[in-house]
Amino acid sequence: MTFAATANVVLFMGATPVFVDVDSSTLLIDPEKVEQLVTSRTKAVIGVDYAGQPCDWVALRTIAEKHNLVLIADACHAPGATLHGKPVGSLADLSTFSFHPVKHITTAEGGMITTDDEAMVEAMRRFRNHGITSDHRSRQEKGTWRYEMTGLGYNYRLSDLQAALGLSQLGRLGEWVEKRRAIAARYDEAFADLPGVEPLGGLQGARPAWHLYVVRIKQAVTGLDRDTLFQRLRERGIGANVHYIPVHLHPWYREQLGTGEGLCPVAEEAAEEILSLPMYPAMRYEEIETVIGEIRSALSKEDVA
Ligand SMILES: Cc1ncc(COP(=O)(O)O)c(C=O)c1O
Repeated sequence: MTFAATANVVLFMGATPVFVDVDSSTLLIDPEKVEQLVTSRTKAVIGVDYAGQPCDWVALRTIAEKHNLVLIADACHAPGATLHGKPVGSLADLSTFSFHPVKHITTAEGGMITTDDEAMVEAMRRFRNHGITSDHRSRQEKGTWRYEMTGLGYNYRLSDLQAALGLSQLGRLGEWVEKRRAIAARYDEAFADLPGVEPLGGLQGARPAWHLYVVRIKQAVTGLDRDTLFQRLRERGIGANVHYIPVHLHPWYREQLGTGEGLCPVAEEAAEEILSLPMYPAMRYEEIETVIGEIRSALSKEDVA
């Protein structure tokens, strides 16, 4: 239940992604299912902090330590979230963030990785700079012209201009996360008495950062399937969306890895029901109420008939 990039990176490294199903309430990776799929060839576990909720990193850490695995957080949805008071970015061995314009904070394009592993930091600094041991500035500081290439790398440098934008955005992160939480709280309240529109369940000890506000549309209760509701909302000018088609159902994955229906039944069932509602820090009170009102009206008996 993620954007394809999470799995693509595994293939870029010449490894094989093994898809783990999600928990039916949170749609976060299910630690019990991770444990069932670990083999002697497993190197790492990647958890996705879907919608802005931290995964159960405590349970994942226990499994990683038992099997000597690296823990990687795809934290692109969750800057500003915490689990048991600890911030996302410090919960896995490596945590990756996207600064694409739709994310909490942006550098136009680009991203960030956080880790407390010095060797990883050094390796990543080389990797982003064509595999070269030192950059221009550090050579100047050391008074040497010498640099060496010790591995293959790319140009993955974020420009200084973008970094400056990122730093100023970072200063607003706390305020923007609070706004997202307030919007989520209002949605939660509104849908508590709207049968068949079910917000995601929460993980104990987690304070999500809500990149997405996702509800599940239970057709058996509403009489309306997700796609029809999506269409009606779009017609009413509401920018609803769907996140995501489970990665293993994308045509390329089906062709390359032979994945398909039945591999992750919980994610597959959720994929038919999930709807992401508008959520952005500048969203005004009236706009939130408009979304709620349009959902109620789109689901009302007259409209369903
Ligand atoms: C969960 C998740 N992982 C990875 C990415 C990839 O981010 P980027 O396009 O900045 O590399 C995104 C971006 O949409 C995402 O939502």
